[in-house]
Order: sequence, then structure tokens, then C-alpha cells
Amino acid sequence: MKFFIDTANLEQIKEAKDLGILDGVTTNPSLMAKEGIQGKDAIMKHYKTICEIVEGDISAEVLSTTYDEMIAEGEELAAIHSNIVVKIPMIKDGVKALKYFSDKGIKTNCTLVFSAGQALLAAKAGATYVSPFLGRLDDISTDGLNLVEEIRLIYDNYMYETQILAASIRNSMHIINCAKIGSDVITSPLAPILSLLKHPLTDNGLAQFIADAKKLG
Ligand code: E4P
Repeated sequence: MKFFIDTANLEQIKEAKDLGILDGVTTNPSLMAKEGIQGKDAIMKHYKTICEIVEGDISAEVLSTTYDEMIAEGEELAAIHSNIVVKIPMIKDGVKALKYFSDKGIKTNCTLVFSAGQALLAAKAGATYVSPFLGRLDDISTDGLNLVEEIRLIYDNYMYETQILAASIRNSMHIINCAKIGSDVITSPLAPILSLLKHPLTDNGLAQFIADAKKLG
């Protein structure tokens, strides 16, 4: 399973990269705004910087919602670096844009996916990645992991090459359960990734080993 970090924060991206487990980065307009990135030039520059830090797929989201605008914007984003993945919302014009970029050999990430039907359409349109938003479904008392399972079944039935990129991850159990289901990728904030490291028995055991090591002289 590939690990992407879901942030536009350069320090956190570097920290995840230094851990040696990072395969890519996803961002969205809210994450960019959180970092105070404003204006087209600053946004493009920020994506370029991320591409220089991480060798892997970097999702850059279009801000427009009509077909023509998404195509123009996506082409500009794709021109920043060969690792840019154009992130497109699951709307009618978005499906058409996914097909356009797929035919052109430009990678895409279909975002804001909340149903198996939407994921099926994204795969039919040739999306490279589909992003079901687990946490946001959980937030409305709907089982987000169940959606990942449904998409896995459908994609396996027809051997669709679209990769499931489980998004809106809130905790380490989301990551573990996605791995059990067979999600191709998870994209997570840094904290849930780091909490995979933690177990009290590891800490206790290490403290004991260190104490005993001192007795060895
Ligand atoms: C996906 O690519 C999105 O950027 C992200 O995972 C959304 O997560 P949130 O629901 O925590 O905002």
C-alpha cells in the first residue's frame, strides 16, 4: 500500500519523507489556504517546491468547475512537473475532464467521491486514482470503510486499473483497516501516520533493554 501525505505544509512533508515511507502528496484548496498560499503564481510555485521535495505523485487540485476551465487549468498544473496528478472533482464536467486527461496520458485523481457509483464512473473515465473520503462519511454516521470495500470489489470484478486512494483519514485505525481491505493508497495527515509507530509495550520493552544494557558494562 502506498502512503501519501495529505497536507501542503512543507515541514510535515519533509518529516514524512525523512521517515522513508512517503510515496506521494495530496493537497486541496483548503490545505493550501491553511498554509497561507494565495494567488496563482504562489500556488504554482508551492506545487513545484513539493515536487522538488518528494519523488512521487503529487495531486494538484483544479479550482474551476466547468469542463473548458478544468482542461486549461489541469494542463497548466500538469506542465509544472511530470509527477503532478491533476485532481478533479466528481461532477459531470469532471468526469469528462478525467476522460480527456486519461486519453492524453496525464494522471488524474478524482476527488470528493462518496459513493460506489461515483467510483465506477471515475474508473470508466480512466482516472488514475479515485479518492473516497472516509472521515467525512464517518462524520455523518456512514461507514466510510464500507465504501472502500465496495469500490475494491467493483474494481476487482472488472480489473479496473484505477487505484483506490483512501482519503479524509482521521486516525491510524483508518490506515490499518484500509490496508486490510486492500486500498492501493492512503493519504493521511502526518499524525495518524506517526501514531502507527506507537505501542506502550514497545516503549516499556525498550526502556527495560536500555536499563539492562547498562548492566552489561
Ligand atoms: C483528499 O485528497 C483530501 O485532500 C482530504 O483527504 C480531505 O480530508 P478532510 O476530510 O480531512 O478534509
